[in-house]
Amino acid sequence: MSTKTIVITGGTTGIGFSCAEYLLGLNYQVIITGKTKDNLDSAVSKLGNNSVGILSDTSSLNDIDNLVSQVKSRFGKIDGLFINAGIFKASNFEQTSEELFDQTMNINFKGAFFTIQKFIPILKNPSSVVLNTSIVVFKAFADTSVYTASKAALESLSKVLNIELADKGIRVNIVSPGVTESPIQKKSGMSDDAIDNLLKHFSSTSPIGRIIQPTDIAPIVEFLLSDKSQVLRNEKIIVDGGTTL
Ligand SMILES: NC(=O)c1ccc[n+]([C@@H]2O[C@H](COP(=O)([O-])OP(=O)(O)OC[C@H]3O[C@@H](n4cnc5c(N)ncnc54)[C@H](OP(=O)(O)O)[C@@H]3O)[C@@H](O)[C@H]2O)c1
Repeated sequence: MSTKTIVITGGTTGIGFSCAEYLLGLNYQVIITGKTKDNLDSAVSKLGNNSVGILSDTSSLNDIDNLVSQVKSRFGKIDGLFINAGIFKASNFEQTSEELFDQTMNINFKGAFFTIQKFIPILKNPSSVVLNTSIVVFKAFADTSVYTASKAALESLSKVLNIELADKGIRVNIVSPGVTESPIQKKSGMSDDAIDNLLKHFSSTSPIGRIIQPTDIAPIVEFLLSDKSQVLRNEKIIVDGGTTL
């Protein structure tokens, strides 16, 4: 059982929520963030008394500063950070607007970049940062250009941080999920039929014969946050049931 304190960005639904639930079950202290108050309140009430929710838009540097200062005043230093907040909106390359480009990059990459930077003073030595990227970084999917670029940028950051932050005892590793059933699909702008087809396709073509669930990701993230992975650096664990083999 652990007494580690972990911050999960975007812990209100889907993968982040499942990780929070899993970590709480192992006695971690968990702080989740989200941008939508209703989702945050509902997540905290489901997670129970040991969870803490802090409203924070990861694309706002001001919000990140407030998040760090609230975490610092309540918990002091933390043991780990799961950089999970993210969005995906399906969009053909030729139709991708500047607005969607900025929104995606600001949440998935800029937010991640500055969240890690601003948490450095309160990350313990040693501590673990886990980045949630995606199989899109190495397997091309149509209508994902800016999303793919945001996740590739995030992966590229991991190498540099492992060098620059080594003397602070901070390690960075990556979880790379395949298509995972979560609220992200409904928010993507895809029709219900398109979502249904996507999930069916990935279930039927996967060696495990089903779609990945957020609960499949949680133990992997826990491993990367825990001392069990203390010598790993820039390791990427692909959690896709073998669909990209
Ligand atoms: N599902 C997949 O197939 C899949 C595959 C590979 C990687 N991923 C990655 O996994 C991560 C989690 O996605 P998910 O599938 O679990 O989807 P999800 O259920 O939609 O979760 C997204 C989380 O990010 C939060 N978020 C979004 N914008 C935010 C912002 N501006 N500031 C703070 N929090 C924000 C959401 O909070 P609100 O409730 O406030 O919106 C929510 O908690 C994402 O980074 C996604 O790219 C997902």
